Amino acid sequence: MEVVITASPEAAGAHAADIIEVLVREHHEARLGLATGSSPLVIYGELIRRHGAGRIRFDGVTAFMLDDYLGLPSGHPQSYRTYLEREFTDAVGIGRVQLKGPDVQRPDVACACDDYEELVVSPAVDLQLLGIGSDGHIGFNEPSSSLRSRTRIKTLTRQTRHDNARFFSAPDDVPRHVITQGIGTILQARHIVLIACGESKAVPVARAVEGPLTARFPASAIQLHPHTTVVIDEAGASALELADYYRDVYRNKPEWQRP
Ligand code: F6R
Repeated sequence: MEVVITASPEAAGAHAADIIEVLVREHHEARLGLATGSSPLVIYGELIRRHGAGRIRFDGVTAFMLDDYLGLPSGHPQSYRTYLEREFTDAVGIGRVQLKGPDVQRPDVACACDDYEELVVSPAVDLQLLGIGSDGHIGFNEPSSSLRSRTRIKTLTRQTRHDNARFFSAPDDVPRHVITQGIGTILQARHIVLIACGESKAVPVARAVEGPLTARFPASAIQLHPHTTVVIDEAGASALELADYYRDVYRNKPEWQRP
């Protein structure tokens, strides 16, 4: 695992954008896994700027959602599909057909999960972006999620519903259920890039990177992946025991391995 500590959230966003830019330049038809929430906004903002400057094109890219709420009407402003269209994909020319996600309107939820699972893994996503929840979730894999889980329905914890209430008009409006890629699904991506900035992410990041591997803290599953990059700012790095070592590794990274 590589841990990149940057001076600011914007620099973290730019670093993750560099990784995506290199991928998309080399692989015009890349399969890109997208996260939602506030953490990836610095990446999307930077990619939108680069797209506007003619530096990067996404027309061959297929994008895959990590998760979405169940029970919201289609087009609801807080549905993750609507969020991604609004915050990223529409602005960079990733067409709505190129943005794949679980069909959360389908009455047969189990079939919607199975169909999406198949779509995501065949073939594997090239790069999966992740954020991290305060209770350690990645995607919406809440504590106790099997580390081999596949796309399925999950029930959000009280903590996650509380954390996400800021996006809704009332706390009770936050849906209880979601469809999420499983941890096993996420781990099939060729490269995982997890972004987490700010003090509130410091302990979750330390538990994911340096804590024990456990379903109690699902983000610790990134330790199982052969190619993960964790991009954090100084505040996000503040609880890491080995922060100095990660800085040293990055400073001495061979040029051919960059970004
Ligand atoms: C997003 C997602 C979640 C968020 C996490 C952190 O698709 O699945 O895992 O990444 O809840 O959210 P923020 O970034 O808002 O703190």
